[in-house]
Amino acid sequence: MNLVFLGPPGAGKGTHAEILSKEKRLVHLAAGDILRRNVKEGTELGNQAKSIMARGELVPDALVNDMMFAEIRSLKAKGSEGFILDGYPRTIGQAEELDRFLTREKMSLTAAVNFDASEAVVIERLSGRRICAVDGKIYHVRNMPPKTEGICDCHGQPLLTRKDDQPETIKTRLAVYHESTKPLIDFYFRKGILRHVAADGDAPSVQKMLEKLFENTR
Ligand code: AP5
Repeated sequence: MNLVFLGPPGAGKGTHAEILSKEKRLVHLAAGDILRRNVKEGTELGNQAKSIMARGELVPDALVNDMMFAEIRSLKAKGSEGFILDGYPRTIGQAEELDRFLTREKMSLTAAVNFDASEAVVIERLSGRRICAVDGKIYHVRNMPPKTEGICDCHGQPLLTRKDDQPETIKTRLAVYHESTKPLIDFYFRKGILRHVAADGDAPSVQKMLEKLFENTR
């Protein structure tokens, strides 16, 4: 099963992709996480992406496409059972290139899941999000707090706030979402593979809806 997770920043794509990928034995490929890893390691891609990401804008399609195709090729080589693409594609251009790539590789998408979350909810979620500095595990100060305030449960390190979770950058990211990414809902609807999850609810209820969508799909 190969899935794409769509939705505005803060809708819960990363949180729920992490859980579903474990349950269904899929590989979770989060474009933002891979880019942040490149920034941290100071690769050429990371250096090109760093300031763009800090402003909340999109990294150029060609860079992101090459990065994600390399990831998918390496999964295929390892014989993986499938993947969840989280935060990719994010423009019509990326979606069209992904289609061409998957056709060349004799692969296809099972579904594109739209996480339908309201603006008020995503702003509240992004403002309270904290992440582990070691592996990027996602917390929320109220909704998904760590056992000890401000400290990662797994690594015992202080939790961080993402640089692009500042109020001004959140505004830019939401505007970019509406202009460039939202049209993908229609793109995948026309392909007949769009599924919706009402994502304003708490994590267990959203997860339940997601699992119901794919209970009979391998
Ligand atoms: P990226 O890291 O992908 O950010 P995003 O799409 O803006 O998504 P987020 O990670 O902010 O939100 P999410 O939906 O995963 O929510 P989460 O699960 O964390 O991208 C960052 C940047 O990289 C981009 O701005 C761009 O510059 C670049 N980039 C990435 N992909 C690119 C591409 N394809 N092309 C070009 N550039 C690209 O949840 C948020 C919070 O809510 C957490 O605190 C969580 O604990 C909480 N929460 C989640 N679900 C629930 C729930 N159901 N109930 C209560 N709380 C919840």
